[in-house]
Amino acid sequence: MTPTPDDGEVLQRGELTVIGRIRSASNATFLCEAHLDGRQAHCVYKPIAGEAPLWDFPDGTLAGRELAAYLVSTALGWNIVPYTIIRDGPAGRGMLQQWVDQPGDEVGDEPSSGPDLVDLLPSDHIPPGYLPVLQAYDYAGDEVTLVHADDVRLRRMAVFDVLINNADRKGGHVLVGVDGHVYGVDHGVSLHVEDKLRTVLWGWAGKPVDDETLDAVAGLRDQLRAELGERLCEHLTRREIEALRARVVGLLDNPVMPTPDRRRPIPWPAF
Ligand SMILES: Nc1ncnc2c1ncn2[C@@H]1O[C@H](COP(=O)(O)OP(=O)(O)O)[C@@H](O)[C@H]1O
Ligand SMILES: [Mg+2]
Repeated sequence: MTPTPDDGEVLQRGELTVIGRIRSASNATFLCEAHLDGRQAHCVYKPIAGEAPLWDFPDGTLAGRELAAYLVSTALGWNIVPYTIIRDGPAGRGMLQQWVDQPGDEVGDEPSSGPDLVDLLPSDHIPPGYLPVLQAYDYAGDEVTLVHADDVRLRRMAVFDVLINNADRKGGHVLVGVDGHVYGVDHGVSLHVEDKLRTVLWGWAGKPVDDETLDAVAGLRDQLRAELGERLCEHLTRREIEALRARVVGLLDNPVMPTPDRRRPIPWPAF
């Protein structure tokens, strides 16, 4: 979400109050309110001290990866990741991210009708404009299909995930804001040097990447050589930045979306 200059300042310098803990599988994730001079903004706060240890990612690095993913998203000009910073909070240093207001958040909002951008639908009722990803059976034994919309906003997110090597693009990490923009969240397990792409957005696997998208990727390549490369050094290792550069150049040289021929290509649970 592009913050108003106001929101950005409120998140950077505001006083933080925790208003709830977000039920989550692994990390300590809080919904907070930041207050500054009578202004307020909501945000997600993930203290580094609350990061659960993982076997494959070094301890205490998830907040830096979230910030790095935000910087990459900004450099692409797609603004997939809501405004993100690292700062001190009630439980120490952590990642702070602007909260995305979604339709249905407010009491009295109309629930949205029709399938979500990423959804699980009966296999014989896939609406036009949706791409199938995976066949499965529900509890009753009926065939269901994991699908996502054939939507340019998701297509860009799929490319973004390839570039940042996102290991956790679940349906629940795709948010539609009240502003109609589609946001991606939770990029703590991204930007590893080894291939860990795990996503529900496989609908374009093996398909060519269009020129407009590649222009943005070329822009990212250029920025990596300049200031962006410097800024990422604060949050990623040299090898991780080199691996990011290699994925960017690799996609420009061979502009085809990868296929799910790897171990565990879909995050679990998928939502
Ligand atoms: N910036 C955000 N705006 C609105 N909701 C968010 C935001 N970030 C996360 N959430 C919600 O909180 C849930 C948990 O956050 P997530 O970043 O996935 O944390 P965890 O690392 O604990 O899985 C997400 O699935 C999403 O529903
Ligand atoms: Mg999550």
